[in-house]
Amino acid sequence: MNLYLDLKENSYDIVIEPGVLSRADQHLRLDRKVLIVTDDGVPSAYAEGLAKLCREPFIMTVPQGEDSKSIRIWESLLKAMLEHGFKRTDAVVAVGGGVVGDLAGFTAASFMRGVDFYNIPTTVLSQVDSSIGGKTAVNFCGIKNIVGAFYQPKKVLIDTDLLQALPRRQITNGLAEALKMAACFDADLFGLFEQEDPFCHLPQIIEASLRIKKAVVEKDEKEGGIRKALNFGHTIGHGVESFEQLHGLYHGECVALGMIPMCSEEVRERLVPILEKMGLATTIDLDREKVLSAMLHDKKATEGGVTCVLCEKIGSFELKKMDADALFERLSKIEKHL
Ligand code: GLY
Repeated sequence: MNLYLDLKENSYDIVIEPGVLSRADQHLRLDRKVLIVTDDGVPSAYAEGLAKLCREPFIMTVPQGEDSKSIRIWESLLKAMLEHGFKRTDAVVAVGGGVVGDLAGFTAASFMRGVDFYNIPTTVLSQVDSSIGGKTAVNFCGIKNIVGAFYQPKKVLIDTDLLQALPRRQITNGLAEALKMAACFDADLFGLFEQEDPFCHLPQIIEASLRIKKAVVEKDEKEGGIRKALNFGHTIGHGVESFEQLHGLYHGECVALGMIPMCSEEVRERLVPILEKMGLATTIDLDREKVLSAMLHDKKATEGGVTCVLCEKIGSFELKKMDADALFERLSKIEKHL
């Protein structure tokens, strides 16, 4: 099945098909130099299989994890492209999760002012959310995504067969981002999470999430308005994520925690049981001062506070600026009392 993300001259197809990675040459232009960026947590057979379909492939495998979204690793990818004589007509392909997609996308955006970029996401998180919409970035000076560009891929291949290899915790991590979209935009999808076992409905959840995100990005590519709602759970989520002692938590797990304080009581009463059913933490042992300070350093913070996404009613959202006192108060909703 194909979805078409309509952004005028930056439009592209999202191909959703089990097994599509093995047929990538039917969808992507691989008869040129292709830098394949992957990480050492992704089965190496994925990048190697893709390389066999390329005329001149170069695989770059970065260490798994957020630390690879760095200027140093971005520089090493650009260097490899220079050393291998890449031209503006060549291409970069990401084969991996959100980190690989953001890093490879920014490399494609910046090399010679932009070469073709294809994304083949291999995790639930990247298949439901980060692989489409054109956000690319690396972290810098301890601030997430502070150096980057909006740079749309030329095509995205969603191979749902790849999810079979994922540990359950990785799947849950991605489902948290799908639940975020359901809460703000799609009461029916939220109902599916509530009434069914979401692990048994992955293809349906991926497609529904991609449809939501596509519609949002088509309305607001550069996050001037409605796209901000895709950051539901992220203000507190990023604060928790960057708090040193909690580095063991995955991004989606932090977003799940971050949604809880940003809901009405009515929404929270429905959200928390879903998170519990999925095995996600709903409280955490945290230092509110430290998490608050990380939130106020987020790139979305301004002098008057941080614009937060609130979900007062399932299927809808509001944007509200919150100052430090209000955020501090909200954090108490997820604070574990030992
Ligand atoms: N992941 C949120 C966005 O792409 O806007």
